[in-house]
Amino acid sequence: MWGIIATWRMAHDGILAAKRLLEEKSTCGDAVETAIKCVEDYPFYKSVGYGGLPNERGIVEMDAAFMDGDTFKIGAVAGIVDIANPIAVARRLSEEKFNSFRVGQGATEFAMLAGFERKNMLTERAKKIWQKRLDEMAKTNLSPYDGHDTVGVVALDKSQSMAAGTSSSGLFMKKQGRVGDSPLSGSGFYVDSKIGGAAATGLGEDLMKGCLSYEIVRLMGEGLSPQAACDQAVYRFSDTLKERYGKAGAFSLIAMNNEGEWGVATNVEFTFSLATEKEQPAIYLANPGPEQNTIIEPITKEWLDAYEKRIKAPV
Ligand code: GLY
Repeated sequence: MWGIIATWRMAHDGILAAKRLLEEKSTCGDAVETAIKCVEDYPFYKSVGYGGLPNERGIVEMDAAFMDGDTFKIGAVAGIVDIANPIAVARRLSEEKFNSFRVGQGATEFAMLAGFERKNMLTERAKKIWQKRLDEMAKTNLSPYDGHDTVGVVALDKSQSMAAGTSSSGLFMKKQGRVGDSPLSGSGFYVDSKIGGAAATGLGEDLMKGCLSYEIVRLMGEGLSPQAACDQAVYRFSDTLKERYGKAGAFSLIAMNNEGEWGVATNVEFTFSLATEKEQPAIYLANPGPEQNTIIEPITKEWLDAYEKRIKAPV
């Protein structure tokens, strides 16, 4: 059995590429890296890699992580700049026994010395959006913070190994050095090949309060299906956060177990993409249901057309 699931519609082309690899017996690690690289390379996705929106100083600072579910090896980068594919750097770092989570200049220098492709990640389009937001912020009380749609991927390969990865340019207009949940084990991602894996997207500051990726894997380990584990972890925590912290930011989680069964839960409208040995690649729309459940439906052509228009609309 093989399978792969990823956050957001933006991951779909990557899922198609990864599916071909998994069918041909490639590793789950290659599938995760390939799927995420596709998103990092596409200039119209505003929250990941090239074209990602910058921090308040106009710098695209990126976070990424990779985890191997067989060995628990983890590599991560935070605040890396001018590197084309942070996920590849994170995966390389997962091979290091020490120094496997690098931040800022240390992450960028590691990537440069290791020969990873350098690239100015700030597109003209992203710069325009940033400038426009600065102008708006000067005129109104508009919250500067927006756009933290991480690509998170969990994959299972034919050898029953699993891997997970994330990549994000983080919160638009974030303060210099702000790090989200995406590179944090247990919050942004977690995977155990003997159980399953999970990954998150949404407001990192709130996701890291609940360690939701780990919680979902833990619940699957206790015998819950991926869907039941996602529902239980996400809706309970969203309610707890509202009760004790006053509010809960937007967040969504995906999960897959080691039999290729999957689940998602979300407190806002959320899209995701998946393919398994049994299911054709498809994009779905998820919404929170009335009873701590998730309503999942196939995406419509109207939704996809509107999305395409939105991401390419003139700035
Ligand atoms: N989930 C991505 C972030 O908050 O940076």
